[in-house]
Amino acid sequence: MVLIFTKSDLKKVISMKDVIEVVEMAFSELQRGTATLPLRTGITLSREAGWMGVMPAYLEKMGSLSTKIVTVFEKNLEKKLPTIMATVILNSAETGAPLAIMDGTFITAMRTGAVCGVATKYLARKDSKTVGVFGAGVQARTQLIAVCAVRNIERAFVHDKIKERADVFTTEMSEKLNIPVETRKPEDIVKESDIINTATTAKTPIFDGNLVNQGTHLNLIGSFKPEVREVDEVVIKKSKIVVDRKSAALEEAGDIIIPLKAGIITKENIYAELGELVIGKKPSRTSDSEITLFKSVGLGMQDCATAWLAYTKAKEKGDYQEVALFS
Ligand SMILES: NC(=O)c1ccc[n+]([C@@H]2O[C@H](COP(=O)([O-])OP(=O)(O)OC[C@H]3O[C@@H](n4cnc5c(N)ncnc54)[C@H](O)[C@@H]3O)[C@@H](O)[C@H]2O)c1
Repeated sequence: MVLIFTKSDLKKVISMKDVIEVVEMAFSELQRGTATLPLRTGITLSREAGWMGVMPAYLEKMGSLSTKIVTVFEKNLEKKLPTIMATVILNSAETGAPLAIMDGTFITAMRTGAVCGVATKYLARKDSKTVGVFGAGVQARTQLIAVCAVRNIERAFVHDKIKERADVFTTEMSEKLNIPVETRKPEDIVKESDIINTATTAKTPIFDGNLVNQGTHLNLIGSFKPEVREVDEVVIKKSKIVVDRKSAALEEAGDIIIPLKAGIITKENIYAELGELVIGKKPSRTSDSEITLFKSVGLGMQDCATAWLAYTKAKEKGDYQEVALFS
């Protein structure tokens, strides 16, 4: 039998706190050599401004084997569809049999929030109280939830190029998190936020890096193509840079690749992979005045860990639907 998880099934069994924990475990596995994680492969459909990626992963210690098929179609918002849609298939690491098929759109949002939760836990100042979010889409919501799960955030700010989206975000997220969430101009977000998250579909820098205060922590998750970036070279140059995985960042992260190609930074400017902080191989933040920056392009092992969590929790609770796929 194969378990089927809709978004509402997943919401019943996984919380952001638990997803942060398993995503952190995945980063530890990657660093200790027990994660198998091929670079993702993708197809670009230029006529539709669309992309489809396939992301397999295996976490040996967790015993989780999965594949995510994800699409990013930039014109979907106009069609009232999510920009990103995905399906995750979890297979048995003992027989290869499919164990579960899941709504990967929700898994993606949770695990992308969670990786910034892990980065924020290790890199942001302990006394961080304000967070600013660029973009008011699907990922921006879980970004904010995850940051609030690891720091005592008192106020949040948001900016989206579409004002109505930012307005909906403020109402929804202030109710959900029980803190004031307000719209701000980009320059005010940068000046007023201890932690800045970017979760946009922008292709060029969305704020002036000169405005970033000492002591700020930034999580950048939006861009995943070498020619696309959300921040300028000024902020990249003055930050302590941590990435999810160096090989993936050097292949896909325009925020880093563009200043690298321009000779403004070198590969040595990348201080660490997130897993190196998780296992204590390198110190994380070393002073309150440092600017720290985490860039994620997203790794299949984050989906793999989150799918494993959902499957395990649902089995424990006995709360799942199943189908005889091969009958
Ligand atoms: N790193 C990862 O693991 C990961 C995972 C999922 C998604 N992503 C990326 O994150 C981005 C956001 O994804 P989403 O699902 O939230 O998309 P979404 O379409 O739901 O939201 C994106 C928002 O960004 C806004 N935006 C675009 N340009 C802007 C600008 N210049 N300034 C302010 N706002 C702007 C849009 O109006 C929209 O509201 C995408 O680029 C996606 O590819 C990365």
